[in-house]
Amino acid sequence: MSEQRQYVPHETPGNADRLQTVLEVSAALDQVEDLDSLLDRVLTEARAFANADSGTIYLVAGDRLRFAYNSHSTQRKSADPDRNRFNYLNNTIPINDESIAGYVAHSGKPLVIDDAYRIGDDVPYSFNQQFDREADYRTQSMLTLPLKSARGRTVGVLQLINALDSTGGEVVPFSQEDMLYVLLFSKDAASAIERASMTRQIILRMIRMSELRDPKETGAHVSRVAAYSVEIYERWARTHGVLNDEMRHNIDLLRLAAMMHDVGKIAIPDEILKKPGRLTDDERLVMQTHAVVGARLFSDGDSDLDNLSREITLHHHERWDGNGYPGRIDDIYRDPIRMGPGLKGREIPLFARIVGLADVYDALVSRRTYKEPWGEDQVLDTIRSEEGKHFSPDVVKAFFDVHPVLLAIRRKYTE
Ligand code: C2E
Ligand code: SIN
Ligand code: SIN
Ligand code: FE
Ligand code: FE
Repeated sequence: MSEQRQYVPHETPGNADRLQTVLEVSAALDQVEDLDSLLDRVLTEARAFANADSGTIYLVAGDRLRFAYNSHSTQRKSADPDRNRFNYLNNTIPINDESIAGYVAHSGKPLVIDDAYRIGDDVPYSFNQQFDREADYRTQSMLTLPLKSARGRTVGVLQLINALDSTGGEVVPFSQEDMLYVLLFSKDAASAIERASMTRQIILRMIRMSELRDPKETGAHVSRVAAYSVEIYERWARTHGVLNDEMRHNIDLLRLAAMMHDVGKIAIPDEILKKPGRLTDDERLVMQTHAVVGARLFSDGDSDLDNLSREITLHHHERWDGNGYPGRIDDIYRDPIRMGPGLKGREIPLFARIVGLADVYDALVSRRTYKEPWGEDQVLDTIRSEEGKHFSPDVVKAFFDVHPVLLAIRRKYTE
């Protein structure tokens, strides 16, 4: 990307190439559905266009901007290379003229600053040096643009920091041309972001809908199962050499997908779903269809989130020894639903094994319409004795490693 710093007059092949890239990248963004992956992609492409050392995306949340994504190319001094990317994730700043990003969101206009430490007194905004101090960084040139969707809504702010010269060593100002190209690309990026956050909201509504159906058990249960699953997976990933980026990406998806593990219960009749006592064998068979019905809800989608949700809804009641359900079914749309031969061992997708354990743990320690809560020790003994029978040994290991955290999660999400 080094030639990007040279001045290229209009109508030259170089410029046409860059325009072509804008179009290709915009088309590619349409394929990404998960919000976090999308932000990652947008920032990577924008940084490449302008040869920027680092960048940040803020998303509009009410009347504030939330620090949503951040990436760097320079070697950081901090020990954890991932730290800077995520440590501000919960920070917000007001949308007003005091900060640079706030000013851009408020005015809706792009802003080019050649040196953040030499901003004149004639403007309302100022640079917050605290970010540099915390990140051990020196911000110099900045290109800050509003992310305006095709519908004209400002969904966020894209900020590129420190344009590098062709040798990559020296920080130079951003050019007008950089601004024009990034601006061109940012409209499609904003529309894609708007779409991805709508998807996420719809998922959360879907979960709330199934809570309405089954208010006694579902509400806190889904939040706990999701939180347990994330903890167990994170431990599993760290002990199995999963790379940080992949782990973060999976955690984001797992949090949502695990919440949906029982959405299929929406199709179960009240007499069975809310039965105060033990189910009969026939009732149990009806109940078990919730796994298949749940999977149907995601079968027409092809995003990472759809695929993961399908895996989890379908297989969270499989057992490591092969005696779970619904097993291998070649057509999940066929009615009446018939269970197949149970998946066994590693045939069961990892995330389904994790959610499966988190689900049983939560069911056993909780009160149900059909059972009293069990004591913690009895539950842990059961899980230990079911290792290699109901549960996958590697997941049981991760479960016990994070057990103290799971207790804290339970205190946080009590009904
Ligand atoms: P759930 O209540 O969320 O339970 C999830 C899983 O935890 C169960 O999957 C089972 O593996 C485990 N589990 C829950 N309670 C017990 C228990 O007392 N003993 C043992 N050994 N394991 C337990 P399962 O069995 O496939 O059930 C799926 C769902 O079906 C349950 O979700 C619950 O909504 C419903 N269900 C299961 N059995 C009964 C029942 O006897 N009466 C009623 N009303 N509902 C039941
Ligand atoms: C990715 O886009 O796959 C990575 C996202 C992340 O690291 O959170
Ligand atoms: C079950 O009976 O499916 C639950 C096994 C257990 O956790 O004891
Ligand atoms: Fe279930
Ligand atoms: Fe459940």
